[in-house]
Amino acid sequence: MKELLEGNLTKKWQDKRDRYVASAVGNGNRHIAAEAKGALVTDIDGNAFIDFAGAIGVQNVGHCHPKVIKAVKEQLEHFIHPGFNVMMYPGYIELCKRLCEIVPGEFAKKAILLNSGAEAVENAVKIARAYTGRQAVVTFDRAFHGRTNLTMSMTSKVKPYKFGFGPFAPETYKAPYPYDYRKPEGISSEDYDETMIEQFNDFFLSQVSPELVACIVMEPVQGEGGFIIPSKRFVKYVRDFCTEHGIVFIADEIQAGFARTGKMFSIEHFDVVPDLMTISKSIAAGFPLSGVVGKAEMIDSCGLKGSLGGTYCGSPIACAAALAVLDIIEEEHLIERAEKIGAIIEARAEEWADTYHSIGDIRRLGAMVAIEFVKDKQSKEPDKELVKRLVTYCNQHGLLLLDAGLKGNCIRFLSPLTITEVQLNQGLAIIEDALNSI
Ligand SMILES: Cc1ncc(COP(=O)(O)O)c(C=O)c1O
Repeated sequence: MKELLEGNLTKKWQDKRDRYVASAVGNGNRHIAAEAKGALVTDIDGNAFIDFAGAIGVQNVGHCHPKVIKAVKEQLEHFIHPGFNVMMYPGYIELCKRLCEIVPGEFAKKAILLNSGAEAVENAVKIARAYTGRQAVVTFDRAFHGRTNLTMSMTSKVKPYKFGFGPFAPETYKAPYPYDYRKPEGISSEDYDETMIEQFNDFFLSQVSPELVACIVMEPVQGEGGFIIPSKRFVKYVRDFCTEHGIVFIADEIQAGFARTGKMFSIEHFDVVPDLMTISKSIAAGFPLSGVVGKAEMIDSCGLKGSLGGTYCGSPIACAAALAVLDIIEEEHLIERAEKIGAIIEARAEEWADTYHSIGDIRRLGAMVAIEFVKDKQSKEPDKELVKRLVTYCNQHGLLLLDAGLKGNCIRFLSPLTITEVQLNQGLAIIEDALNSI
């Protein structure tokens, strides 16, 4: 496969970027985007990229979906931002209603809209603290919840997310989270569940007492952590533990939500209902929008007017995009499509696993698929270097691909769910070519 070219204009933009843009901002590759439609991104040199990254799980409905563009244009004809705190507008209210309808739970629900994922998590914690009158926040090993002080403190991976950025927010604790592929040798999955539940209980003896905990925030499938899927039994146990101890159970669906896993929200795979849910990313097809949705009595426990919200929260343009996104998911059957996409990727990855001894694990929930690379299947020693080379190769040969995992040894698939089968297979062929080459 041919390596993509970089023209002089691209080099000029790269130099300018290096001169003026903070170096700590990560870039998956050094190309400069010109156009993006569906699952295809084109750069200013005319190179085309199949998109398996979706702006890190933002583009479930695909880039620049015509319905999203239409809704946004229509909104722009009327107003850009009166500020919901100054004068209300229908889009915000309608979106909250639609979200309350689709988030699981047979109880009265309310929602608040914000801008980023981290902001949603921060607000969910504020709500849980106000509701319970408690301070402690429990997350999990390998969790990712954002880059603000509180959410960085709730996050597990030290480098790059936390290194040198302390002091961290007080009263944040990390509980153990299962990782079936890396369970001790010779133990069954059922016995491993028991061990993890025991460790989870011990954590509340050694780290923090349950009656001091405001909330447990859980990614039902860990995103940055490497698409790690816990057992139903473990998730149910955590849910029941929260109920027993008056702790608010918050599902962070920021990466896994909006049809990605073959359900509208990933928590639905586990037959449990969260008290609150944080949402963002694919909700608005690339416009900055996030939210907290859940039990009305909890959300309304922050009673003081002005205690939640922010200048740009629930932008009318983002709300218009989000309402279009919800229609598209339904009309284009993206929930069912996610399962099909995931099955195609999995089947191909299984073939690779027969040939390449470096593929240690393939795991998926719908179209949330990850492949974990190891130096050999016996030792399971993570092979971060190989993943680095694989991802670089793909990005240089027309495929936007991301790594994942605490040890950086996984690749993850977050393509638009509107990707065509031809594009999907083209993207997989580039990965196959990368595996052959490196
Ligand atoms: C599960 C999860 N929570 C929170 C966040 C933070 O979102 P943002 O980067 O929009 O602040 C992310 C981002 O990747 C995420 O995957």
